[in-house]
Amino acid sequence: MTVPGIEHVAVVGAGTMGNGIAQVCATSGYRTTLIDVNAEAIERAKKTIAQSVTKLHSKGKISDEARDHALKGIQTSTDLSAAADADLVIEAATENKALKLQIFADLDRLCHANTILATNTSSISITEIAAATKRPQHVIGAHFMNPVPLMALVEIIRGYNTNHATLSTILEFTQSLGKTPVEAADYPGFISNRILCPMINEAIYCVMEGVGTPEAVDTVMRLGMNHPMGPLTLADFVGLDVVLAVMDVLYEGLGDPKYRACPLLRKMVAAGHLGKKSGRGFYVYNE
Ligand SMILES: NC(=O)c1ccc[n+]([C@@H]2O[C@H](COP(=O)([O-])OP(=O)(O)OC[C@H]3O[C@@H](n4cnc5c(N)ncnc54)[C@H](O)[C@@H]3O)[C@@H](O)[C@H]2O)c1
Repeated sequence: MTVPGIEHVAVVGAGTMGNGIAQVCATSGYRTTLIDVNAEAIERAKKTIAQSVTKLHSKGKISDEARDHALKGIQTSTDLSAAADADLVIEAATENKALKLQIFADLDRLCHANTILATNTSSISITEIAAATKRPQHVIGAHFMNPVPLMALVEIIRGYNTNHATLSTILEFTQSLGKTPVEAADYPGFISNRILCPMINEAIYCVMEGVGTPEAVDTVMRLGMNHPMGPLTLADFVGLDVVLAVMDVLYEGLGDPKYRACPLLRKMVAAGHLGKKSGRGFYVYNE
């Protein structure tokens, strides 16, 4: 069941997160528009969505109608003005503060006064993004997890001025996508990265100090703590540069030395060992 008042959803950014968000909006029955400045990103997104919905349909997880809507019903554009008549915009563009502030200022100018503007940022303050608009009461964080079609959680973050109506609409909306929303306050890293990245960082200290090899650290956390994946394997999947960027945000934003990035993490990023995407991190890939 879609949420009353939300008929058209525009997703800005067609990368890893944007294509997944557009997919779940479409399969949940929303008129969906996917926007990216890069036409190739849109083409890649269409392919990813087609593969994903075909697989989910073959496993009986989504209906014929939901699959067809995602395959044929998603409008695409390289022009932000395609979001002009959306009831809800979810921004999932590159994690860059200046870029996001510009996108929100533009959306504020283009969209109806009541349109809710949500951001999928992992680390930028919702309050700061909202301040780039004249409608901070309608700006909110909706932090989806990767891969979006499979992960149940969405962290919902109110900015300083976000009003209750915006919060309750977004809570209802994320539930209508089959997700479980959890509220977090607007502090660096929210809940997810505030806990996950320091855990990964500590695992890297264990390797640097010789407490254990990467294999030992990961095996302890998998078999001893029942984590589905060890923290160093997870770091390789997320990207060591991304983990480092989050640690720096936590360190700067919270001002506590316990968030200091592990020197080995910094050294590996400097060496270009970024994890799976570069072929090498704590483990070696493509060999
Ligand atoms: N990747 C993850 O695991 C993950 C998880 C949760 C949240 N996030 C957040 O989601 C957002 C997107 O991350 P991603 O991993 O999908 O990035 P990505 O690099 O895969 O995709 C970003 C897309 O934004 C597009 N873009 C750049 N400027 C634009 C503009 N002005 N207008 C429209 N599109 C523009 C790029 O062309 C690119 O296709 C970031 O804020 C990130 O922090 C990422």
